[in-house]
Amino acid sequence: MKTEKRKDKHIKTALKKESQFKKTNLFEEVELIYNALTDFELNKVKTSTKFFGKKFSIPLSVRPITGGTEKSFKFNKNIALACEKKTIGFSLGSMRTGLEKKSKIKYFKFRKFAPSVFLEANIGALELQKYSAEKIDDFVSEIKADAVSVHLNIAQELMQNPKTKGFSKQFGNIKKFAEKSCFPVIVKEVGNGISFETAKKLNKTKVKAIDAAGRGGTSFVRIDSILYSRKRFKETFGEFGIPTAASVLMTKKACNKKIIASGGIRNGLDICKSLVLGADLAGIAVPALQQAKKGEKSVEKLIEVLEQELKISMFLISAKNLKELGKKKFVLQKNLQKWTDT
Ligand SMILES: Cc1cc2nc3c(=O)[nH]c(=O)nc-3n(C[C@H](O)[C@H](O)[C@H](O)COP(=O)(O)O)c2cc1C
Repeated sequence: MKTEKRKDKHIKTALKKESQFKKTNLFEEVELIYNALTDFELNKVKTSTKFFGKKFSIPLSVRPITGGTEKSFKFNKNIALACEKKTIGFSLGSMRTGLEKKSKIKYFKFRKFAPSVFLEANIGALELQKYSAEKIDDFVSEIKADAVSVHLNIAQELMQNPKTKGFSKQFGNIKKFAEKSCFPVIVKEVGNGISFETAKKLNKTKVKAIDAAGRGGTSFVRIDSILYSRKRFKETFGEFGIPTAASVLMTKKACNKKIIASGGIRNGLDICKSLVLGADLAGIAVPALQQAKKGEKSVEKLIEVLEQELKISMFLISAKNLKELGKKKFVLQKNLQKWTDT
């Protein structure tokens, strides 16, 4: 299937319920400690932060979804405008089509809609074998992005083509790219999570941040096994992966990089729990895509609701700001604890 056709089909399939994991991200097993006798008012709760020097009104980023086609441009434009209005991070989907065909770069130019946001470009780890750091950096400069995220997606690639090769070179290529690139490099999964072992390996590189992108939200394995009519793979691997809460805890334990928690983040309490577990930002993908279909205002409304819920969550545990939030104690239930003991 051609890259552009696949991109548009990804959007359509991602909006269907069957793209979502049945298993959860285990955030329900993270319990926060309620404080009934607080000594400040809700309006004193502050959620602003900085990430790589850029301002965020709440610690939230829309994770990479799409890019490179006319259809994707419309979705991304609505998301970019809302992210600018609400001062949160915005990420573009893989730059592959833009690298393959120079004429497609116009579908990645969003800086004019989001002049002040932390803007991420994105590329697959397998693509690092084909393109030099200079070529990728040129693309990132041309679209005026602040950073580049590199996605690891072994499970997804194998759903597209079980004969795919090149995985053994991924780590070396990421290491080299992070050394050569002029931009901060973020490594992310696409919904199957980062393990302790993977995070430990990445800790030895110049990669600046890790997005856990764990199980419990959108499953790319489900999306691609549907697109490529691999019904059996969907049954076998459709629930495979590390739950986001476990992945964030493992990543925190294994490395000292900045952390983004994504994969099934669906409300402000999930964002709050992400930060208590040690993440610097939380991220959403499909919830933003669903609202982008309706328009920019719908994306804005979603961000407003998440902000309100985050503030209430922080207030309920007596955290006035993100610094205080990061020091709050938490309780892990049994299943999640088992993951972190591994
Ligand atoms: C349609 C679609 C396309 C995506 N494309 C990319 C991509 O190009 N690069 C990437 O790193 N992640 C990509 N992702 C993965 C998301 O960034 C995110 O990790 C995943 O959807 C989990 O978040 P969610 O549960 O909030 O949807 C994509 C997700 C969707 C739904």
